[in-house]
Amino acid sequence: MRLKPFRIEQYYARYEFSTRFMLSSSDCESRPIGEVLSLEPDARERLQELWCGYTESAGAPYLREAVAALYHRIGPDDVIVVSSAEEAIFALYHALLGPEDHAIVETPCYESALEVARSTGAEVSAWVRRPEDGWAHDLAALAGLVRPSTRLLYVNTPHNPTGTHMSRGLFDQVVEIARTHDLVLFCDEVYRQLEYDPGDRLPGACEAYERGVSLGSVPKSYGLPGLRIGWLVSRDRHLLQEVSAEPIAVSSPRSCSLRAWSLAFSIFWLSLAATSWVIWVTTCRVSALWAVRRRRVVVEVDADGTE
Ligand SMILES: Cc1ncc(COP(=O)(O)O)c(C=O)c1O
Repeated sequence: MRLKPFRIEQYYARYEFSTRFMLSSSDCESRPIGEVLSLEPDARERLQELWCGYTESAGAPYLREAVAALYHRIGPDDVIVVSSAEEAIFALYHALLGPEDHAIVETPCYESALEVARSTGAEVSAWVRRPEDGWAHDLAALAGLVRPSTRLLYVNTPHNPTGTHMSRGLFDQVVEIARTHDLVLFCDEVYRQLEYDPGDRLPGACEAYERGVSLGSVPKSYGLPGLRIGWLVSRDRHLLQEVSAEPIAVSSPRSCSLRAWSLAFSIFWLSLAATSWVIWVTTCRVSALWAVRRRRVVVEVDADGTE
């Protein structure tokens, strides 16, 4: 496996904590834990009672239940919890792709979506969106990229770095292309719930398509990057088993004590997100949309489509 250094992470390592005004973050403004806990009456007590032992490798059952509740017709067994969206990308690609396979990745994109796919040895084609076309999705081009060996299609909506969002009609056509060619549709939904108009919210890929995988996490929409919690959701149990069997996933910190500690906070957040949705998400949405918009100004897109 060969991974090129992630330039975006190098950029943040250099500037994120030394720059006075940070204009390029893509996550919501975060909150101190005390503020988070104060949103639910018994949250502090529940946190203190939390058991700090190992948990199930797919993630604590109560957390998987909370994640499942974000989607329709999804149960806890359709969910795998990981330590970040980043880990989810790694685990899924390495579980499903190998040198014999071909994958299609929407670009421009978060760098690891392209680079980690390449690191599996698979051939990777970019489904390119261009600023001169208003970042349009060219469906004919997508259909033209599919080969007999194509196993997976990665898309991201709401989208980083453009801040655009697929319409329902477009999303349905992407699903249809995936279904026609029996592709895994890996949909990066880390910005889901930050749509300008909640009416534009798309179903998760896991809801819309039997081979769809939704990637979610708490850093962006919930403004909690310090918790490093992400998840993969799919109704395709065989696919989830393949991901679970991926060594990186089994040895991930999801089963260490720090993980359990993090789970505590995230379960609070996910339940709080359900009850205090309007207050919190409105705040988050405003800051994240500003962040995504600002990022559009400063982001540089390379010839290969990574930011
Ligand atoms: C589209 C997209 N997917 C995944 C990630 C990784 O998120 P996490 O911090 O949860 O690993 C990012 C981070 O910026 C992103 O923009």
